[in-house]
Amino acid sequence: MSSVSAVASRFLWFQEEVVDSTNVYLREKLNTGQISWAVVWAHEQTAGRGRLGRSWLSPRGGLYLSLSLPVDSAIVPHAYTMAAAVAIVECLQHNYQMQVGLKWPNDILAVRVTPEGTEEEKKLGGILAERMDAPHGPHLVVGIGLNVHAEIDLPGEQDRLPPSSISEHSRTQVAIPDLVERVVQYVGTWWDTLLSQDSSDQTIQCAWKMYSRTLGRRVRLHTPTEILEGVATDISSSWALLLKTEKEQILEIYSADCMHLRNAF
Ligand code: BTN
Repeated sequence: MSSVSAVASRFLWFQEEVVDSTNVYLREKLNTGQISWAVVWAHEQTAGRGRLGRSWLSPRGGLYLSLSLPVDSAIVPHAYTMAAAVAIVECLQHNYQMQVGLKWPNDILAVRVTPEGTEEEKKLGGILAERMDAPHGPHLVVGIGLNVHAEIDLPGEQDRLPPSSISEHSRTQVAIPDLVERVVQYVGTWWDTLLSQDSSDQTIQCAWKMYSRTLGRRVRLHTPTEILEGVATDISSSWALLLKTEKEQILEIYSADCMHLRNAF
């Protein structure tokens, strides 16, 4: 990308060798009331956090990055997360010549066609978005974790996909500092788009749907209270996953672990 997006140029940057969690690091900085638009990246995390209260193993060789921004009350937090997911897909496709897709809610997948002609999906990373009430107003912290040089398995995730790394799939050398800069640039550009669109604009949802590997598939969802199966049909206007069950019910799901299944009904 040639020019710095309006949003990316607003970020205050922090770089650390080791932190507990880049999300926690930014939350603490936000609590002082002195920062707002900020980015932190670290080479290592000692207490990396994943979705649904899980931990995220974070040794050297991965990308651990968090971005914060003030929440616009007219925009639902899911929209920022989905825009960031689209940004990561495009960053990896454009700069590292990889085929990348998304598993709902926000897993980043590497996709490869096997010699037998089937498509294989492996997990490259994920996003953890956390809303917080800072002294100077509500903010969102969006944490991004990507396997770059190491394939880190993530125990605890229901029906998890096998892990993979960007180095395994990329046709070009991957330097983590360049990757960090590019990811922030792409996320900034997609957040520019989000902040400039009106509520009826579907640009981000359309892009997310285009990269989704979940929509149109039979899935199993582990929600906090039950296990559901059906076909993932769409994303609702409130950014929930729409699941059509065998009994033809349409359910709106906001939070779950999602497993892609092979068979149709
Ligand atoms: C997931 O569970 O799929 C989301 C994982 C998000 C991990 C990243 S690593 C950088 C940031 N800091 C954290 O503690 N977590 C996120």
